[in-house]
Amino acid sequence: CGIVGYIGYREAYPIIIKGLKRLEYRGYDSAGIMLYNGKNLQIAKTKGKVSDLESKSSDIAQSAATIGMGHTRWATHGVPNDINSHPHVSNSGNLVIIHNGIIENYEPLKKELLNRGYTFSSDTDTEVLINLIEEVKKNEKLKLGKAVQVALNQVVGAYAICVFDKENPDEIVVARLGSPLAIGVGENEFFIASDASPFIEYTSNAIYLEDEEMAIVRLHKPLKIRKIKDDSLVDPYIQELQMNLEQIEKGGYDHFMLKEIYEQPNVIKDTYRGRLHANSGIVQMAGVEDNLEKFLHAQRILIVACGTSWHAGLVAEYIIEEFTRIPVEVEYASEFRYRNPIINPNDVVIAISQSGETADTLAAIKLAKEKGAFVFGVCNVVGSSISRETHAGAYTHAGPEIGVASTKAFTTQITVLTMIALRLAKAKGTLSNSDFYRYLQELEVIPEKVHEALESNEKAKEIAAKFKDAPNCLYLGRGYNFPVALEGALKLKEISYIHAEGYPAAEMKHGPIALIDEQMPVVVIAPKQGHYDKVVSNIQEIKSRSGKIIAVVTKGDVQVKELADHVIEIPETSDALSPLITTIPLQLLSYHIAVMRGCNVDQPRNLAKSVTVE
Ligand code: G6P
Repeated sequence: CGIVGYIGYREAYPIIIKGLKRLEYRGYDSAGIMLYNGKNLQIAKTKGKVSDLESKSSDIAQSAATIGMGHTRWATHGVPNDINSHPHVSNSGNLVIIHNGIIENYEPLKKELLNRGYTFSSDTDTEVLINLIEEVKKNEKLKLGKAVQVALNQVVGAYAICVFDKENPDEIVVARLGSPLAIGVGENEFFIASDASPFIEYTSNAIYLEDEEMAIVRLHKPLKIRKIKDDSLVDPYIQELQMNLEQIEKGGYDHFMLKEIYEQPNVIKDTYRGRLHANSGIVQMAGVEDNLEKFLHAQRILIVACGTSWHAGLVAEYIIEEFTRIPVEVEYASEFRYRNPIINPNDVVIAISQSGETADTLAAIKLAKEKGAFVFGVCNVVGSSISRETHAGAYTHAGPEIGVASTKAFTTQITVLTMIALRLAKAKGTLSNSDFYRYLQELEVIPEKVHEALESNEKAKEIAAKFKDAPNCLYLGRGYNFPVALEGALKLKEISYIHAEGYPAAEMKHGPIALIDEQMPVVVIAPKQGHYDKVVSNIQEIKSRSGKIIAVVTKGDVQVKELADHVIEIPETSDALSPLITTIPLQLLSYHIAVMRGCNVDQPRNLAKSVTVE
């Protein structure tokens, strides 16, 4: 998940190693480096940390090479191990690549290359790409830059790449689509990196490549940037960096949490990429396809998780039951494991965990396995304990989540679980054809709607200013949005230390209503679909007791607007998919309240990102 390249007059090794360390915050599971000393390629790579790479590459640490590149990998295709780590070298031994992202159509490309006699030593999509480049270069007798361009035009996916050719060792070809890439422009030297943090002390001049752009970085030559698709030249725009190191790591955002909130449109897309093709009615995940019978014969699905992941499980309960008619139960992993739960061999257990390391969830999985259940994992961290302990699984592709309060992990978990529900519904015929296609299409455009929902940021900030000193807060929602109310309240608790409760809106009258007075902010999730009229009645109950109503409503809403003190508008989507949208303003609201209260947003007191104790 991190790239560093150097070409210039200094020794490349220390620059690259230090740069990779600067990118560690992005999360990764393996690391590698390539240098060229004028004669030979010097390559070292390993599973583990950059410090492991340092120990493993001590023999080349003194290399006089002034050109090289390094990589930290966050596994997507192929488990984290030494062989799958980058760089990857082409069959001829001349071309070297490092790559962030995913090549979705790598399988047909690989088949074609295998037919032509290419061999592969890793399971990665990246090794396919470098051999594709080699094949194009050889076949069409092209220079490296051109060959990269032709190859990239055959590729579906996301990438930031650096490619080096031993036969032409004074240049590095770079390209980007979907993954960031910056070029630091110094005097007689260039730096390449995923963000500017690896080169900030050498130069403050940076060019950020846009999507679908590539460049040939060559010494003593002006930098040329081209569009990958049509080869047109782009004027390089050199920015003067104003940011310090810490700001750069956060992508210019004040906190990781905010950055991660804003990443959601992209990471939801990353999560369904290659798995969902709405127009052709395809929704598939390898882990589900391979075990489809088990899912279809499930008498019951049991979901175990903790914290925010448990909330994603609750959303999934509503979706899976509605779409597939398979009964679902959701349990706190910590409760499940200590209460001698009833598990039958025909039960499917789904364990949800961002980190894949949560001790209670791990223990619940072991217990379910002992009792003969098939256990499926939904994890974000590739190669984590839970992803290894489960029989099968589907990863969320949220990328590293650094903020302790979970945001993008939650929405990508819901994305995966929704896809599972749709896949099973397709096989079971429990959704009408038209509903099935409609949901697929809606899921496909969810990233755009999340993007639109993020426009509520200013409004959320305004509302935050009004309620930042409230000692308590109530969150209400019904149906699919009841778990969102729980998650909204959890977010507020976690980072602002305001006491907050989430409730099913109709349950309010059985207790929490006693708390309502003119001091009490009540956040009500009231999109147009679902149980709108019922929620409106609940809002009236709050209003007649002088509670302060903050309502999340569908754009164009009139009724709730009249009743509520503040409204946040979100785009319309179907009831079942609405949690992916309604969650967004609640994340922003908690974020701003916490900032205004001077709290440590990314590392709230007493909380840990990954809880490995029970
Ligand atoms: C911790 C984190 C939460 C997270 C929970 C479950 O409490 O602070 O944000 O939701 O653990 O973690 P997991 O990694 O299993 O999803």
